[in-house]
Amino acid sequence: MIFVTGGAGFIGSNFVLQWCAQNDEPLLNLDALTYAGNLANLRALASNDQHRFIHGNICDAELLTQLFNEHKPRAVVHFAAESHVDRSISSPEAFVQTNVLGTFRLLEAARSHWQNLPEDKKAEFRFLHVSTDEVYGTLTQNDPAFTESTPYAPNSPYSASKAASDHLVRSYFHTYGMPVLTTNCSNNYGPYHFPEKLIPLMIVNALAGKALPVYGDGQQIRDWLYVEDHCSGIRRVLEAGTCGETYNIGGWNEKANIDIVHTLCTLLDELAPPSDRGVINQQTGQPVKQYAELITYVTDRPGHDRRYAIDARKIERELGWKPAETFETGIRKTVDWYLNNQEWVRNVMDGSYRDWVAKHYESGNK
Ligand code: NAD
Ligand code: TYD
Repeated sequence: MIFVTGGAGFIGSNFVLQWCAQNDEPLLNLDALTYAGNLANLRALASNDQHRFIHGNICDAELLTQLFNEHKPRAVVHFAAESHVDRSISSPEAFVQTNVLGTFRLLEAARSHWQNLPEDKKAEFRFLHVSTDEVYGTLTQNDPAFTESTPYAPNSPYSASKAASDHLVRSYFHTYGMPVLTTNCSNNYGPYHFPEKLIPLMIVNALAGKALPVYGDGQQIRDWLYVEDHCSGIRRVLEAGTCGETYNIGGWNEKANIDIVHTLCTLLDELAPPSDRGVINQQTGQPVKQYAELITYVTDRPGHDRRYAIDARKIERELGWKPAETFETGIRKTVDWYLNNQEWVRNVMDGSYRDWVAKHYESGNK
């Protein structure tokens, strides 16, 4: 079986659903169910024995040892992390705990399991660490995209903690010979994305007639990949990647934030016209004619990285992976998904999440 961490979060749950749809191999899913973890994402697997869920923390060394001993996984796919840059600015400690200490504890438990395997099983074992392009820092307009040899230069507590975890993973290959793989992916979007991140937040706010908060001048660039393409890239690396190597995953889709917000407004005008839904602008009390009226520029995020861009040629060339979705097809699917899953949105918008959003946007503390 494979052992997934963080499989109740955004990317992890998409991975678990894709795995179970395309594979018979059992999957053990360990997740602490923080504010970002949601078992409703995995409702489709409720009566599927292939998926076994464990509620627990990757920092819990005893639990990890017990899980490795009991389930003897052939591979680990490690998603569990604190993942939101804005939260890492206001409360960085959880990022060091989970992303650095948690990854270390998981590596230690995996090493102990791996070292006791018979030689053939030892060679087949894999530890795949899911990381981000943010470890490479920021690019100017004319810089070439990040390659696997771009030096690390993380700028937020989030990206610094992910960079630290990448270094630990690398060291387990060089020091112990453990068969590790690392993927560094660009910004994902798609179903089950928690509405604190740009794309789902804009969809959810627009439908509620709330302001669409664009940080700074809105000209920051991100490179967007549909989440199922990220998951297929991870599976490909797990299957055929060379141990000790890192693979950048991206979809060649650089977009300025303000362009993303306008694209979402246009799609929503078409698929959920504000006049049909009776959407009222929460700031003015007037009916909304077009969602773009709600765009509001707010104080910039401190240390805001200007541009990310992934050069994905290595995974394309060496492993034959390519994304299936274009940005246009992926973003339309995503908007459709949010429109058809309003109950999921209502369920994740619980009290504590609403409190955080209110505090974050009202204090101007981006
Ligand atoms: P997410 O925040 O949606 O989900 C994280 C999951 O990990 C949640 O289910 C949460 O409950 C769980 N978790 C957190 N701390 C834990 C702990 N201590 N023990 C066990 N479980 C814990 O994040 P995501 O967007 O799905 O990202 C998954 C991974 O992919 C992360 O490692 C992230 O750095 C990486 N990544 C994300 C993106 C992106 O655009 N979202 C892009 C590239 C890489
Ligand atoms: P986000 O989804 O938080 O991902 P990341 O910071 O990991 O790239 O943000 C994507 C971009 O959108 C980033 O440049 C910050 C910007 N942004 C806004 O302008 N307004 C918002 O309300 C949010 C959440 C993000």
